[in-house]
Amino acid sequence: MSLDAVLSRIDDDLPNAIDRLMELLRIQSISTDPACKTQCSKAADWLVADLKGLGVDAQSRETPGHPMVVGHVEGDGPHILFYGHYDVQPVDPLDLWDNDPFDPQIEDTAKGKVIRGRGSSDDKGQLMTFVEACRAWKAEHGKMPCRITFFFEGEEESGSPSLVPFLEENKDELKADLAFICDTGLFESRVPAIITQLRGLLGEEMTITAANKDLHSGMFGGLAMNPIRVLSGILANLHDDNGRIQVPNFYVGVPELPAEIADQWKALEFDHSEFLGDVGLSVPAGEQDRSPIEMIWSRPTADVNGIWGGYTGDGFKTVLPAQAHAKVSFRLVGQQDPHTIRDSFRAWVKAQLPADVTVEFNGHGASAAGQMSTAHPAFEQSRAALGAEWGHEAAFAGCGGSIPVAGHFNGILGMDAMLVGWGKDDDQLHSPNEKYDVESFHKGIRSWARILDAIT
Ligand code: BES
Ligand code: ZN
Repeated sequence: MSLDAVLSRIDDDLPNAIDRLMELLRIQSISTDPACKTQCSKAADWLVADLKGLGVDAQSRETPGHPMVVGHVEGDGPHILFYGHYDVQPVDPLDLWDNDPFDPQIEDTAKGKVIRGRGSSDDKGQLMTFVEACRAWKAEHGKMPCRITFFFEGEEESGSPSLVPFLEENKDELKADLAFICDTGLFESRVPAIITQLRGLLGEEMTITAANKDLHSGMFGGLAMNPIRVLSGILANLHDDNGRIQVPNFYVGVPELPAEIADQWKALEFDHSEFLGDVGLSVPAGEQDRSPIEMIWSRPTADVNGIWGGYTGDGFKTVLPAQAHAKVSFRLVGQQDPHTIRDSFRAWVKAQLPADVTVEFNGHGASAAGQMSTAHPAFEQSRAALGAEWGHEAAFAGCGGSIPVAGHFNGILGMDAMLVGWGKDDDQLHSPNEKYDVESFHKGIRSWARILDAIT
């Protein structure tokens, strides 16, 4: 059977595939850091060269931000678009890394071999699983399994500012029958998961100002308002004692879980003790009347991602600061409207300000939640293909993270997306010591070969 030939080629070529991934991982493509601009272009060029080696007509396309990589290859059967992102998160705090984040290493761990380095899991390793499957297919068959458009973004980790205009300008070129997005993980690190719903994301940065300069807290303390007191009071009001978010009208558009989905999720028997236990926690912190799986997949959240102000250096300084700052983000579900929630949050904050105190806001991205249609036959075909590779039936699952491109493919190109990926819960995405299991990489490549075989 020709699929077997492709799979054994993948097995034999794994060391070379790992070497290629390591090369890509050495490029410091941190999209949010202006100092990495050249490196982002370098990562795009590296991918273009690799695709060209596979006979793909590939280009690095300029945008006002980092380039998009677009490649086309002809073939019979369905036209699919594959999406991944080549940009990565910043590496700080650098001192918590055991090795240089951009000098990736293969490590033996108690749970098997891992590739350690920034972007190994999110998303360069995942992106390359698809490319490697195409490489093996081409080597075995002399051509690609079907018509494929490759689409790699370099700004995903910084809010994709160029994505919507690029999709709008290149609608006809990019529209395919179905998109595959590889930027998610396995359920409980074992079960292949096809993601059917994603949470949206709204970011807000706020600066609270009281006095017009920093003050001596002995001379002014007690008389002058401290903006950190105001800020912390407001942030403490975000949740009530049951974990419910108190911004007015926040829950408008939050649906109850349909019975069918609730049953599917129940059958997954999510073990929250293990999930939390792995990171040193035990007690679910969301709305107390909701199950742990709802808390991460289908309920909205409010989180303070950063808070600063006053003196935070070594030693001690009796300062009464003029300003206090926080970054707050909301994960959104269902029909929650990010813009309405932004307005409501800002009004709610302003209503809590005492005399003499002002606030300034800076918005950071606003994307609604996404609901995937699973009507395309590729979903059932892929489900069977994934079951064969992983030894577990593939689950239709939720994802607590946000991948706005899925919604844009649908809204702008009229194209459904299937989200699958091979990351594990302990990959430490966005954190120090990010890793990707060699098993994820290897079986991920094999999974794509099986999916491509099943849909063509
Ligand atoms: N790959 C992640 C999304 C993800 C997170 C998948 C967790 C599976 C589990 C993606 O690159 C990401 O981090 N997205 C950002 C949103 C973006 C708009 C900055 C996120 O979810 O915070
Ligand atoms: Zn990602």
